[in-house]
Amino acid sequence: MDADRVSADLGRILLFEADIQRRVAELAGQIERDYEGSDLLLVGVLKGAVMFMADLSRALQRHVETDWMAISSYGSGTKSSGVVRILKDLDTDITGRNVLVIEDIIDTGLTLSWLAANLRSRGPASVEICALLRKPEAAKTNVHIRYVGFDIPSEFVVGYGLDYAERYRNLRDIVTLAAHLYT
Ligand code: PRP
Repeated sequence: MDADRVSADLGRILLFEADIQRRVAELAGQIERDYEGSDLLLVGVLKGAVMFMADLSRALQRHVETDWMAISSYGSGTKSSGVVRILKDLDTDITGRNVLVIEDIIDTGLTLSWLAANLRSRGPASVEICALLRKPEAAKTNVHIRYVGFDIPSEFVVGYGLDYAERYRNLRDIVTLAAHLYT
C-alpha cells in the first residue's frame, strides 16, 4: 500500500521504499563479506521482520537457510512490555550454526537481549543481530547489534512490516504514525 492511501493516519515519511532498498543492498554486501566461506542461517522474528527478511535474503548472492521465530513483546499497544514469550520456536537445530537474527526494529532492546541469550544457550557457532531500525534507547542496552540499517528518532513508526494494532505492515515506506491514533 502507498502512504497517500492512509495519509490522515500518518505523520511523515521517515524512509522511502528506495532508501530502504538501497540500505538493504549495502547490508547484504557487508554480510556476504563477513560470512564468506561460512554457513549462514537467517532467523527472522515474526511478524515485523517479514518484509526485511524477504528483501535481505533475496539481495544475498549466496546460499542461506531461513527459519522463523515468533515471540511476543509489545501486545497490541505501542510500548514494550518487557515480557517475552516464545509463540513459535525454530524448526532448525542451531548447534554449530552461524545464526544471524533478522529484526525490523530495536526499541528498548529487551526482546533482542532476551532472544540472543536464548539462542546462545543452544550451542550455535555464532549469534549476531541484524536490525533494520534502531531507536536511541537501544544504545543503552548491552545487546551488541552487528548490522544496523538506520538509526531513527524515538517516534512510533509503521510500515515495511511494522504495525500498529496489526495495521500498516503493508505500507511500502516507513512512516511515523499520527499521534492522535495512539495517545
Ligand atoms: C517488535 C519488534 C521487536 C520488538 C522490539 O515486535 O519486531 O521484536 O518489538 O522491541 P524492544 O526492543 O523494545 O524489545 P512486536 O512485539 O511489535 O511484534 P511484531 O514483530 O509481530 O509486530
